[in-house]
Amino acid sequence: MSSGHKKPQFDFLFMKLPRGFFYAVILFTCLATIPPALIIRARSVPRESRRIHLIQNMDNQPKYKAQQENIIFRDDRSMRQPVPGTVARSQMIGDTHYWLGTVDGTYAKTFPDQITVDMKLLERGRERYDIYCLPCHGATGVGDGTVHARAMQLLNLTPAENNGTTWVQPKNLHEEAVAEQPLGQIFYTISNGKNNMAGYASQIRVEDRWAIVAYVQALQISGNAADYPVPDSDSLPEQKIVLDDDQAAAESTDSDKEGAGS
Ligand code: HEC
Repeated sequence: MSSGHKKPQFDFLFMKLPRGFFYAVILFTCLATIPPALIIRARSVPRESRRIHLIQNMDNQPKYKAQQENIIFRDDRSMRQPVPGTVARSQMIGDTHYWLGTVDGTYAKTFPDQITVDMKLLERGRERYDIYCLPCHGATGVGDGTVHARAMQLLNLTPAENNGTTWVQPKNLHEEAVAEQPLGQIFYTISNGKNNMAGYASQIRVEDRWAIVAYVQALQISGNAADYPVPDSDSLPEQKIVLDDDQAAAESTDSDKEGAGS
């Protein structure tokens, strides 16, 4: 039988296996697609029940959400109402004149009752102004503070050197548009800022803001002083407010002048 036809080994292998084996392979392949199909379904179909979460790590805890029913309370709401008489911080303003600088929705034209305008208030105002306002608005209020000077220096550099800095000059407080503003508006600007200027309510206490208002007004009046008749000229100011310690100073300079003149 040595001359017999030689079958390839490959064929031989297949023919020898029982048929059932091939059916088993096909069946197994089909069944194998079921678990992934189930997983895909589980991940894509929304369900009411929670997913299985074996290691809890305190991930789920009972709590009430807004608008939910809650039978613990008599009104069945989980959201509680504020205790009667509760005042939110922003609602605490009864006296708008003092706290906001407004009366009946417009800027106040007078100082509030809590503020007495005297030399002490002006001194306090000057001190606070020098701390908080002078760096920008300058000692006299014309808007030439050191911050402004520095900004102008930076503006003179090339955009590459100053990162494209831009600058709005602090307002000249003697400008008509500012000088004519009611006191309450100045107070409002100090408290809340204006355009490019930040508000100072968080840094300056309310009584100090009024002191600054008084001082700004004093600056504005003094800014117009050139229009007043000057001492040693023919006329004297029609109205001059003299405060006690000023009077002494004025007298001493007067006598100095007389002394120098004779
Ligand atoms: C960091 C700089 C800076 C400081 C500090 C500053 N200001 Fe100003 N202020 C400005 C600038 C800039 C403007 C102009 C704002 C604009 O019109 O864009 C301005 C505008 C104003 C105006 C005019 C508002 C209006 O109605 O046009 C008043 C009044 C004023 N400042 C008062 C004050 C007082 C008082 C203080 C101190 C508590 C103060 N500022 C501190 C920069 C400053």
